[in-house]
Amino acid sequence: MENLVPGNKLLDLNGKTAIVTGGSIGIGAGIVYRLAEAGANVVVANRNQAEAEAIVTKLSAFGWKLKAIKTDVTNEQEIKTLIEQTIGTYGAIDILVNNAGIYPSIPVTQMSLSEFERVLTINLKGVFLTIKYAAEKMIAAGKGGRIINVTSIDALHPSMIGLAAYDASKHGVWGLTKNVALELAPHRIWVNAVAPGGISTPGVAKMQTAMSPPGIDPAKIIEMSLAKIPMKRLGEPDDIGKVVLFLASEMASYLTGSQIVVDGGMLLA
Ligand SMILES: NC(=O)c1ccc[n+]([C@@H]2O[C@H](COP(=O)([O-])OP(=O)(O)OC[C@H]3O[C@@H](n4cnc5c(N)ncnc54)[C@H](O)[C@@H]3O)[C@@H](O)[C@H]2O)c1
Repeated sequence: MENLVPGNKLLDLNGKTAIVTGGSIGIGAGIVYRLAEAGANVVVANRNQAEAEAIVTKLSAFGWKLKAIKTDVTNEQEIKTLIEQTIGTYGAIDILVNNAGIYPSIPVTQMSLSEFERVLTINLKGVFLTIKYAAEKMIAAGKGGRIINVTSIDALHPSMIGLAAYDASKHGVWGLTKNVALELAPHRIWVNAVAPGGISTPGVAKMQTAMSPPGIDPAKIIEMSLAKIPMKRLGEPDDIGKVVLFLASEMASYLTGSQIVVDGGMLLA
């Protein structure tokens, strides 16, 4: 009992450095907010640098420590630069959050090979690349670490048709998560996943508009989705941000290879 971390320190990330890919809008922004608020140095790694600079400017005004490093997760050289610049600025990488992802809805018979490959390249290869280069540095530093992959309920069960490539990619990330958790456990690097259900983000808004047949209000599509959610609301980015904070913190001292479903009960329906 005498060695227990005090309750008020369990979510304290002061002195830790986190990278969040795709962290500037949507779920990524929710994650960046909670990690920075908890005291971590947070690197926002996004292919859209203007978006990343905007959230860094906004949250730095609270006195929190953030930096934007332009990164396309499909570009191996940019990932190497991300890792080097993060260590150059903050001295280490303690937490890696793989959040960047896309979810175009296209029936499988109409999907081109290049579109299928684009989804797999961003959602799965991107996660492999960041883990490869970040884990190498975490192992060398010998201080352990946390890797948190944002999957989806679609990593477990399809939520709707049109997402064949997406579901393949997210099942892939879940498989990667479990195997890497096993490989990195001897280095005290805990690797887990968060599987969101329907979360209100700019990406989802764009998808709803794209899927609405002419003359149908996108609000109708939202209504149909809500009917499938026992909590009767879409999730907010902060619903995911709080669970990622939990996984990044001392609260999650005995979890690795787990996937936490955060879906308002949607998978039950
Ligand atoms: N919103 C949901 O309902 C939902 C549900 C389950 C899982 N997810 C997952 O959560 C993650 C975030 O989703 P969101 O809804 O916030 O998306 P979003 O489209 O609102 O935001 C995605 C962010 O990722 C960035 N990004 C995209 N491709 C990138 C790349 N190649 N390199 C770097 N950055 C890139 C975009 O610039 C953007 O900032 C995705 O992995 C998605 O699959 C979302």
